Amino acid sequence: ARIPRLRKLKRVVLGSTVIGVSYLGWLMYRNRNPVDQQPFDPNKKTLVLLGTGWGSTTVLKNLDTENFNVVVVSPRNYFLFTPLLPSCTVGTIENRSIMEPVRQLMRHKKREVIFYEAECTGIDAETKELTLERRTNSDDLQTTNKRPPTAPEDVVKLNYDYLVVGVGGTVNTFGTPGVEQHACFLKEMRDARKIRRRLMDSIESASFDDISEEERDRLLHMVVVGGGPTGIEYAGELHDFLTDDLSQWYPDLAQRVRITLVEALPNVLPAFDKKLIDYTQSTFSENKISIMTGTMVKEVQDKSFTVQNPDGTRTEIPYGLLVWATGIKAQPVVNRIREQFSQVQTNGRGLLVDEYLRVKGAKDIWALGDCALSGYAPLAQVASQQGKWLARSLNAAAKKSDDAPDADIFSLIEKTSRPFKYSSQGSLAYIGSDKAIADLPLFNRNITSGGIATFWFWKSAYLNELFSLRNSSLVAADWVKRFFFGRDISRE
Ligand code: FAD
Ligand code: NAI
Repeated sequence: ARIPRLRKLKRVVLGSTVIGVSYLGWLMYRNRNPVDQQPFDPNKKTLVLLGTGWGSTTVLKNLDTENFNVVVVSPRNYFLFTPLLPSCTVGTIENRSIMEPVRQLMRHKKREVIFYEAECTGIDAETKELTLERRTNSDDLQTTNKRPPTAPEDVVKLNYDYLVVGVGGTVNTFGTPGVEQHACFLKEMRDARKIRRRLMDSIESASFDDISEEERDRLLHMVVVGGGPTGIEYAGELHDFLTDDLSQWYPDLAQRVRITLVEALPNVLPAFDKKLIDYTQSTFSENKISIMTGTMVKEVQDKSFTVQNPDGTRTEIPYGLLVWATGIKAQPVVNRIREQFSQVQTNGRGLLVDEYLRVKGAKDIWALGDCALSGYAPLAQVASQQGKWLARSLNAAAKKSDDAPDADIFSLIEKTSRPFKYSSQGSLAYIGSDKAIADLPLFNRNITSGGIATFWFWKSAYLNELFSLRNSSLVAADWVKRFFFGRDISRE
């Protein structure tokens, strides 16, 4: 009786493998050969989506484009999976593994979607007209709040019926002198590229014999400003690069590399549980990453920076690389929108929205993600849940309005959808040496955990959340590649 049962099992396994492989093959074929799309319909309203980040891309993914003519405007033509961006600064993951072209998503929608690689810089809410500035010049390799003026021929106008603002935030320097000129940020892919180049430049410069020992120590001092999750994750990745790879390639220099994290508040990771803060601080101490808490960076010069110590005195500290990760502030275009509704838009941190994500004081404008003040933290999970909610709500309202073509979707949404409510999936952060921390809501309680098991949970959670099967496969391959061959130390 055993043999037929074994045969049956074999047949089931073989059958499921054939079905699985065929399904995967079909998915890949469909991915590369999308079906024909419907053209723009002059009878439909135009919905403009600003941004290709977590919020706007999730709207696009879930929106039924049969209901609208959709136009996407963003200075970058791809979606970026920000949680793994710190891994790109040292080559744990290759840059393109966490980028997904927005046109890939667009070409699978039922109706044709238009994309403009441009930045929205102005709005006239009265005439429903946007001012766009072309950003097709890829020389702009720096995330900065200061840009040279755009040539007049690169300024274009675009009309909308409905507008979704998902422009995120921009780096906050708090006006600290010298930051824009000398520091690296960690917000966009170009920042990760710049950090990687500067890091390798510092190390290669330090390997010349003709420099003083003092200069060598300066070049090998890596500084992170800001003890939020971005600063912590970057410091952790840098530590791994140092111990796993640089120590093999540059044995003498690697011993002299110092990593310092400067945080203005009394402890790092203020949003995390106390136990996880202690765990992170003790892991950093084991990993020889110095943490200067209660210390505020006051100025950044070319080769040194000045801090205000807890006792009020000031110290100048030399550095080779300085990464500035002190959070975000509103994008300039958000301020332009706020000016149009200055009576109600009184908070300089972003756009005040109601529970249906409608911009207060405005008509036909929604905002979501980091640029919207909805009462939730600026997180990818919030932006993506809002994106899903908004797309579904727009779909439902548009369907309802089919019976009444002149129906006002902006008001209708209140009747067809429940208000947006965020459901937290918890917080995760990588802290280096194959350890992660997690703060997870479970059965009405918060479960905290830290260590190597949490790191594997962190890995599987991110693999699962990546934008596409292509991204997940590339990231998994990068992790395997790093395990076998180490990280690439080439400068570019
Ligand atoms: P973004 O994702 O920033 O997207 C904004 C989009 O708008 C971009 O495409 C941008 O190019 C475009 N844009 C900007 N200006 C204009 C304009 N004027 N006109 C048109 N388009 C414009 N959150 C988590 O929950 N978990 C994490 O692990 C996590 N890790 C992070 C790691 C790093 C290094 C960073 C920087 C952030 C991390 N975050 C994380 C936060 C998360 O990335 C943000 O909360 C999220 O990106 C917000 O989504 P968004 O759509 O509002 O903005
Ligand atoms: P943040 O706002 O969370 O932290 C910035 C830190 O910099 C603060 O602790 C602040 O006290 C400190 N700071 C400000 N000015 C300073 C100065 N002059 N000198 C020294 N320290 C100074 O910013 P971060 O880390 O960039 O995160 C932005 C958002 O993205 C947050 O909402 C965060 O939760 C989210 N994020 C989440 C991640 C995760 O869940 N794993 C990873 C990265 C970001």
